[in-house]
Amino acid sequence: MMLSVPSHTQRGRFITFEGLDGCGKSTQLEKLAGVLRAQKLPVVVTREPGGTATGEKIRQLLLDTKTSSLAPLAELALMFASRAQHIAEVIEPGLTEGRIVLCDRFTDSTEAYQGGGRKLGHEPVLALHGILCGNLWPELTILMDSDVAKSVDRARRRNKTFSAGSGKAKSDENRFEQESRAFFGRVRNAYLAIAAREAERVVVVDARGTPEETHKQIVEVVRRKLKLGNEYGLNSPQSHRATEKTSRT
Ligand code: TYD
Repeated sequence: MMLSVPSHTQRGRFITFEGLDGCGKSTQLEKLAGVLRAQKLPVVVTREPGGTATGEKIRQLLLDTKTSSLAPLAELALMFASRAQHIAEVIEPGLTEGRIVLCDRFTDSTEAYQGGGRKLGHEPVLALHGILCGNLWPELTILMDSDVAKSVDRARRRNKTFSAGSGKAKSDENRFEQESRAFFGRVRNAYLAIAAREAERVVVVDARGTPEETHKQIVEVVRRKLKLGNEYGLNSPQSHRATEKTSRT
């Protein structure tokens, strides 16, 4: 049975999650996906770098600490190589089929990490985005704002545990976590600059509270910004009555 989402010939919705390593982004993305799926909505969850077989190979190369002395411009190009494949293979087809594509990181990450962190600036990032990504932008980006020190410590602990658990890990995902606090400070500043520049698209959510508090904020933002409450029946406590009226039979 096809899902009872109205007019599925319509293009889907593209939502991205952004934030520092260890801000809890992936957990929140899964929680939102759970809410949407509970409404029987067609959701695609994916991530960058990665999201395709080719992209995952590029991811391994990019994140492995054994990849040493990667030139910042090579790193930038690899992020976009993964993204171009991801758009062609997963994101565009998903949107064409009317799905809600939830993507863990997208070009804002490149602007924050390579543009800010690696000091390449935003111009090359936006120029490459125009050429390689057909200027595809999400309708909504949730930027999870968190403290640099806490987030990075959390990411480092998590990845240490992961590497320890996988025995003599052939590869790990720790290359960025080894960067300095100053690097992550620049990443955060670049993120906040994007949010200030693109206030319509990018919504900053405070990720310093409990996961449940953050989740509530995110559901409310998604409902409000994408009007999913009316269109899809995604409800918040306040919109309960309105949702009842429009709920599926
Ligand atoms: P991710 O798996 O989201 O890490 P975490 O769960 O720790 O947030 O992302 C992997 C790393 O890749 C992360 O350190 C950020 C970095 N990255 C970039 O530097 N540029 C990019 O364009 C993308 C997509 C990720």
